[in-house]
Amino acid sequence: MYDVYEIRKDFPELALTVNGRPNTFLDTAASAQKPEAVLEEMTSFYRTHYANVHRGAYYLSEQATFAYEQARDIVAGFIGAAGQEVVFTRSATESINLVAASWGMNNLRPGDEILLSEAEHHANLVPWQTVRDRTGCTLKFFAVNDDGSYNPENFYNALSERTKLVGVTGMSNVLGTVFPIREIIAAAHAVGALCLVDACQSIVHQATDVRELDCDFLAFSGHKLYGPTGIGVLYGKHRLLAAMPPYQTGGDMVRKVTLEHTDFAEPPARFEAGTPAIAEAVGLGAAVKYVQSLGMKNIAAHEKELLAYANARLAEIPDLKIIGTAPDKGGVISFALGSIHAQDVAFVLDKEGVAIRTGHHCAEPIVNRMGYTSLARASFGLYTAREDIDRFVAALGKAKSFF
Ligand code: ALA
Repeated sequence: MYDVYEIRKDFPELALTVNGRPNTFLDTAASAQKPEAVLEEMTSFYRTHYANVHRGAYYLSEQATFAYEQARDIVAGFIGAAGQEVVFTRSATESINLVAASWGMNNLRPGDEILLSEAEHHANLVPWQTVRDRTGCTLKFFAVNDDGSYNPENFYNALSERTKLVGVTGMSNVLGTVFPIREIIAAAHAVGALCLVDACQSIVHQATDVRELDCDFLAFSGHKLYGPTGIGVLYGKHRLLAAMPPYQTGGDMVRKVTLEHTDFAEPPARFEAGTPAIAEAVGLGAAVKYVQSLGMKNIAAHEKELLAYANARLAEIPDLKIIGTAPDKGGVISFALGSIHAQDVAFVLDKEGVAIRTGHHCAEPIVNRMGYTSLARASFGLYTAREDIDRFVAALGKAKSFF
């Protein structure tokens, strides 16, 4: 049975008081809190197994290399990939920049099209604008419905034989909309295009199997998956990675170097120049094992139940408008409270110990499209409880009474 109160005990920060109130942490979509299992694994790795990887012919380096590569296998198992298809990066942003710089810059030319949803995070938008500017290809977008839901007609109308890459988020960090990525990937393949999925938000809320999805590239970050910052993942089909040039060059990504020439290593090493984020990879492995121990299906069911509860409670507040009400959505609620500025709402909530995010959420185009320049956002994680929602609703009542 999924006991959220037992689970909360695994997260030391949740026990803090903030401004004299219980820590009501509703900003998990920005970055998740870390369980003891991750903190402990990283500390113990630094204390007893730490050295540089792939370089030392000595005990500790072998131990560290084993732990780092084991983390890769854990991540690969989690998403249904082979280990050689999992590249460790610094972040999801770096993963997408890697594909843009390596695949995009070398495969796109004038007349080719990149198709993105208009709900992409800047991380899956700005790199493609740069590729467009440098290659002369065309960047197109498919719009969502006013409620934030996926509009298949808009997607299929924008998709064509000229499309070479479709980039789509698995779940919008603003609207919460879960995009039907299996369908989008199949449609991209039908016109000969590749598909890149920004899974930062979706991988935290639902089981993800890259083989079953048949996606070409998939990016996500460690810190949203209850792991550390400074580590991201790029999944790429092996034949695609094998044909791509390096994104960065340096040590540990080579087979042979002379003063004149370098033979690059096979993926994933080809894309991991320099000393990697070793302990962070190990921490991510621990985070993956942690969520697996709870079960992705159980986490998803818990968050769905919580979202329904939050929607019902928020409906009690006059003037509160939820932005993004797609039928298929994850644990993210962006909202406007009457004419009160989102920053003012967040200020009052903070005094009540309630943490939410405000602003354009690094997805300015979709926030503007919905008619706002700034939105408040509450987001849930596997540890969020009904009491968090109750304190959130009570604090919103206070905000309303102040302004
Ligand atoms: N992309 C993160 C968010 O949605 C930081 O808050």
